[in-house]
Amino acid sequence: MNRQSYNAIAKDWDNARATLLPYEIPFLERLTQHLPKPAKVLDLGCGTGRPVAEFLLQKGIAVTGVDQAEDLLALAKERFPAGRWLQAKMETFEPDEIYDGAVIWDSLFHIPREHHEPILRRVLGSLRQASRLILTVGGSDHPPFTDTMFGQTFFYDSHTPSAVINILKTLDAGIEHAEFINPPTTGRDKGRYGIIAIARAA
Ligand SMILES: C[S@@+](CC[C@H](N)C(=O)[O-])C[C@H]1O[C@@H](n2cnc3c(N)ncnc32)[C@H](O)[C@@H]1O
Repeated sequence: MNRQSYNAIAKDWDNARATLLPYEIPFLERLTQHLPKPAKVLDLGCGTGRPVAEFLLQKGIAVTGVDQAEDLLALAKERFPAGRWLQAKMETFEPDEIYDGAVIWDSLFHIPREHHEPILRRVLGSLRQASRLILTVGGSDHPPFTDTMFGQTFFYDSHTPSAVINILKTLDAGIEHAEFINPPTTGRDKGRYGIIAIARAA
C-alpha cells in the first residue's frame, strides 16, 4: 500500500517535504557531531533525500539511502548524484557495510510493528561501536491504522515509545536522548517520538 501511495504523491510529497523543521535540526546535529571524517551514514526510508540526506551530503558525509518507493528515489538520484540510493523494503534490507551513523526518520511507523525489532537489530548491527542512530516512532499505544495524505491511503503502526526504548536496550543500545516531538492527541494525531540511540553503548 505505502509504496504505491508514495509513488502516487511523489511530486506533492517532494514539495511538502522540502526543508527541515526546526525541531529536527538538533537531532541531525547530534548525529553529525559524533561522526569521524570521512563518515558513512545509512538513511532508511530516505524518501526523496530531501531534506535529511541533503543535510548530511552538504557536510561531506557519504549517504546510503534506502526506500521502497522508486518515484521518490528517482528524485533523490537526480538531485543528489553523490548519494548511493537503493530500492529495498526496510523489512528485508540487509546492510552490506559498516556505517558511522544511521537515520530512520518518520519511516518505521509505516511498517507493521513485528518488523521493528528485527529492523533495529540489523541497523544497530551495521553500526560502528558508539555510533548514533536517530529515529522517530509513533507516540501512543494505538492499534495499526490507516490515514490519508494527498488523497492516498497510508498504513501506520508503532510500539509505544517505552516499548521501543526497551527494544533498543535489549539490543545493547544506550539512549542518549528521547522526547515527544508531538504528543498524541485524542484526535487524528497519534503522536511522534524522537530518539537518539548509541550502538553497543556498553
Ligand atoms: C514520511 S516519509 C519520510 C521520508 C524521509 N525519511 C523524511 O524524513 O523526509 C516515509 C518514507 O518511508 C518510506 N517507506 C515506507 N515504508 C517503507 C518500507 N516498508 N520500506 C522502505 N521504505 C519505506 C516511504 O517510501 C517514504 O519515503
